[in-house]
Amino acid sequence: MNLSFKEYTFAEKHDYITHNEKYDKLRQVPRHGCTNTFDHSVRVAFLSSRLAKLVGVDPDSAAKVGLLHDFCLVDYHKDDKHVHNGRWYCFYHPEDAVINSENEGFILSHVEKKAIWSHMFPLATSIPTSRLGYVLTLSDKIVATQESLVSAAESIRNIRFNRLKG
Ligand SMILES: [Fe+2]
Ligand SMILES: [Fe+2]
Repeated sequence: MNLSFKEYTFAEKHDYITHNEKYDKLRQVPRHGCTNTFDHSVRVAFLSSRLAKLVGVDPDSAAKVGLLHDFCLVDYHKDDKHVHNGRWYCFYHPEDAVINSENEGFILSHVEKKAIWSHMFPLATSIPTSRLGYVLTLSDKIVATQESLVSAAESIRNIRFNRLKG
């Protein structure tokens, strides 16, 4: 699943994040079967900044938390009791995302950090406490659902194709 032209342009506009060397490694972290964490984050940021304008939230802040919300280089598909160090991805990756962001010099306000920490709501225990937080968690769920549906459609297509072949 590729980025649209608008999403790609949006990513280039935010090159202070998307051209960061460590952030670029998110391209190697798969997500939702049909995409990677870099592209997923760009989609979430693009949608977040659009929704933000509708509800009176700073679109640049929404774009920033959208791009950084999954800044964790762990592949959640790997479950060898070592990669996750005994932790559950769904709970720790928002915290890792904030730590990695700050280590790379991206400045986050407390409201922005809280939005990232709570983006897995209601799957995690942290609850969004700002409009920015709700914009982020809603955008993440919309994009994740879209990506999962594309992935399911690809799987069905492959099964049909293999049946026709075999
Ligand atoms: Fe996430
Ligand atoms: Fe996400």
